[in-house]
Amino acid sequence: MAESLQTTKKPSSKQIEDVLYHYASLFVQECTFELGWRDLSKDIVMDVGSGRNLNCSNVILKEFPDVRALIAIDKDQSVFETPDHLDERISCYVANILYKDTLKPFISKIDKVISTNVIHKISRKRPIFQNVYRMLKPGGEAAFFFLLDSCYYQFLTKLLKIPKFKDMFKGRYNPNMYPKHRRYLYYKDMLEDVGFCDVVSKVEEKIYPHPSEEDWKNALYAAYKDSFEISPESVDEIKEIAFQIYLRTIERYEGEPCYRVLSISLFCKKEKSTKILCEV
Ligand SMILES: C[S@@+](CC[C@H](N)C(=O)[O-])C[C@H]1O[C@@H](n2cnc3c(N)ncnc32)[C@H](O)[C@@H]1O
Repeated sequence: MAESLQTTKKPSSKQIEDVLYHYASLFVQECTFELGWRDLSKDIVMDVGSGRNLNCSNVILKEFPDVRALIAIDKDQSVFETPDHLDERISCYVANILYKDTLKPFISKIDKVISTNVIHKISRKRPIFQNVYRMLKPGGEAAFFFLLDSCYYQFLTKLLKIPKFKDMFKGRYNPNMYPKHRRYLYYKDMLEDVGFCDVVSKVEEKIYPHPSEEDWKNALYAAYKDSFEISPESVDEIKEIAFQIYLRTIERYEGEPCYRVLSISLFCKKEKSTKILCEV
C-alpha cells in the first residue's frame, strides 16, 4: 500500500476531454508494474464498465497488440450501439457487474479483469468484487481504479443546495458517495475477505492546476450539462454562475484554483487452487 500526493503538469483542454483515456493509460502501465503484465498472448482480458470509448480495451490493444481476446462489458446497452471503430479482438456484452446472472457466460473463463472509473459510481462494492472473483480462472488477476473523493463532487453538492440548480437537476446524486472511512485498508480488507490474495492497495491524490478560464468553464460544463435541464438560451449564464460557484467551492494549491481527486488503485490475484467460492 501507499499514499501519495502528485501534482501534474498543466493540462490542455484536449487532455481534459481525454482525461478518462489518460487515467486508463496510466493504469495499464501500473498493471505492467504491479502485476508484471508482459505477454498477454494467452490471456482473455475483461474490461468492466468499458463505456462508449472502450478506453481500457483500446489502451490494452495498443500496449499488448498480441492479447488473446478482450471482452468489454457495460450495463448500458447504448454505449455499444454506435462504436466509431471496433477492433475485431474486442467483443462487447451488455452485463451488469452487480448481477451474477448477467455474467454467467464468463464464470471461471477470464484471465484478467481491469476496470477504471466505474466502481465509485456503484454504491455496493462487495458484490462487484465477488462477481469478478467468480469470473476469474484460478491464478487470474484483477486491477481496479476508482475515485475515493473528488472536488467536482464537492462542487456538485454545493450546486444542489442552490434552488435554481436543484430545480433543474435531472441526474442522480448520492449524498454518501465518498465516505471518508473508506480508504486503502477498507478495500484491501474487503478484497481479502472475498477471497483474493496478494492484494496491493494504493491511494493517490492528484492535483491538476487550473488551465485557462475558458477551457475550465467549458470542461466543467461538459461534466455537468447532462445532469441538468438547461435551456439553450441560458447556457452562457449557467456556465458563468456555476464557474463562480466552483471557484468559491474548490480548494487552492499554492494560491491557485485546481482540480483535486483522490483515487485508489487495487491489484489482486485469485489463488491457483481455489476452494469453494464465497457466496453472498
Ligand atoms: C465513467 S464511465 C468509464 C468508462 C471507462 N471504463 C473509462 O475508464 O473510460 C463508467 C461506465 O461504467 C458503466 N457502469 C456503471 N455501472 C455499471 C455496472 N453496474 N455494470 C457494468 N457497467 C457499469 C457505465 O454505464 C459507464 O459506461
